[in-house]
Amino acid sequence: MNGNRFSVSQEMLRRATRVIPGGVWGHNKFPAAYDPGEYPWFADKGEGARLRDVDGNWYNDFLCGYGTMVHGYARAEVDMAVAAEAANGDCLTHATPRSVDLAELLVELVDGAAWASWGKSGSDATWTAVLMARAHTGRHTVVCVDGAYHGSHGWCAWCNMGDGRCDEDSAAVRTIPWNDLEALDALFASEGERLAAVIITPFHHPIPGPAMLPNPEWLAALRAHCDRAGALLISDDVRAGFHLDLRGSHATFGYSPDLVCFSKALANGWPLAAVTGTERLRAAASRIFTAGTFWNSASSMAGAIASLELLRRDNGIERMHRGGAAFVAGLTELARHNRVPMRVSGPPAMPTVTVDGDTDHRWMRRFAVHMADRGTLINPMHNWFVSTAHDDELVAESLSHAAEAMVRTQEELAAG
Ligand SMILES: Cc1ncc(COP(=O)(O)O)c(C=O)c1O
Repeated sequence: MNGNRFSVSQEMLRRATRVIPGGVWGHNKFPAAYDPGEYPWFADKGEGARLRDVDGNWYNDFLCGYGTMVHGYARAEVDMAVAAEAANGDCLTHATPRSVDLAELLVELVDGAAWASWGKSGSDATWTAVLMARAHTGRHTVVCVDGAYHGSHGWCAWCNMGDGRCDEDSAAVRTIPWNDLEALDALFASEGERLAAVIITPFHHPIPGPAMLPNPEWLAALRAHCDRAGALLISDDVRAGFHLDLRGSHATFGYSPDLVCFSKALANGWPLAAVTGTERLRAAASRIFTAGTFWNSASSMAGAIASLELLRRDNGIERMHRGGAAFVAGLTELARHNRVPMRVSGPPAMPTVTVDGDTDHRWMRRFAVHMADRGTLINPMHNWFVSTAHDDELVAESLSHAAEAMVRTQEELAAG
C-alpha cells in the first residue's frame, strides 16, 4: 500500500477537525472506522459511476452517494434540467409549476399514490408520514422493526444510540422483529387499538447486515392487522426507492402501503424528499404542519422529473438489476474460489455483503481497505448500490480489484 496515497485527505481532515466536530458529519462518519491513511475521507468529483478523492485517486463507486445516484454522477440530462430551473431563481416566494408537474408524475408512477408532498431529506419524509398517520388515526404510537433506520429525527428508535437523546423522544415508538408472525400477532392483540402506524422498509437492511427480504405471509398479516385495528402502513422507501421499481418498491414485494416515503434516488443526487399517499389520507395530509424554507426549491424538482423520465425511458431499473446481478455473481464465484464464507443478500441492485463468522467486521473492513487501494469503493457494513452507469467494463474491472483484494485480505488475516 502506498503511504502517500491519501496525504491530501489526511491534511483536509486535520483542517476539518479544527472547524467541524469530528471532521466529517452524518453518513460520512461511516469511514471513521478507517485509518485516514488507508481510506479516502474527502472526495471532490463524481463522473458516471466513478468518484475522485481529493488526492486525485479515482474509484469505481459502489456506494453511489449512499444511494442518491442512479444514473451516474453529474448525468447531463438531469443536471441541465436543474441548471435551467435554477436560472429562474429556484427558491421563489411561491410554489412553482414544477411541484405540480412532479406530483402529477409521482401519482402516475407510484402504485396507490393519489397525491404527493415534499421535504428535503429522508428524515423529513418519515417524520411527515408519522404526523399524517397520527392526524388520520388520532393515535400516537408508531411501530418500527428492530434495527430499522428511518432517519435521525428524535422519534426514530434506532437513533437512541447517539448522545443528547432522551427516552421521551421515542416514547411513542414500539419495535417488533422483522418477519416474525407471532410477534406481530401479539403486538396487535395487546396494542392494536392504540397504534397509529407500522413503518417498514420494503426489505430489511439493518446495519450491519445481512439484508432480509420480506416473507409474503408476514406482509399480508401486517396489512390485515393494520386494517382490522384501524392503523396505517407506512413504506419507508427512502433507501430502496427507484432502485428496484418505478412503481415504488412495495410493488416489487406485493404490499399496499397507505403512505410511501421517498428521498435518496428521487432526483439523482439533488436534495429532495416526497411522501405519497392514498386517497383516504388526503384530508389528514392537508391538516398537518411540517415545513422547510427550502422545500419549494424548483431545481431539485426539475431534476427529479428528468431523473424519473430517464429511468422510464432507458429501462433504468432493469439495467441496475443486471449490473448488480453480474457483480454479485462474480463476487460469489471469487469467494467460493478463495474459500471465503461470503454471503450476498438483498436485491442485486442494492447488495449487502457479509462474511459468516466475521462478527467484529474485521474481514470486511480490511477487504474495503484493499478494494480502495486498487480503485473500488465499498462500505464494509452498509449495503452497496449499483447505478445504470455501472456498465460491464466497470463491473469487470471491479471484480478484478475484488479478486486481488480478497487474496490480500486472506493473507493479511492469516498472518494475524
Ligand atoms: C430507510 C431510510 N429511511 C430514512 C433515511 C433518512 O434519510 P436522510 O439521511 O436523507 O434523512 C435513510 C437514510 O439512510 C434510510 O436509509
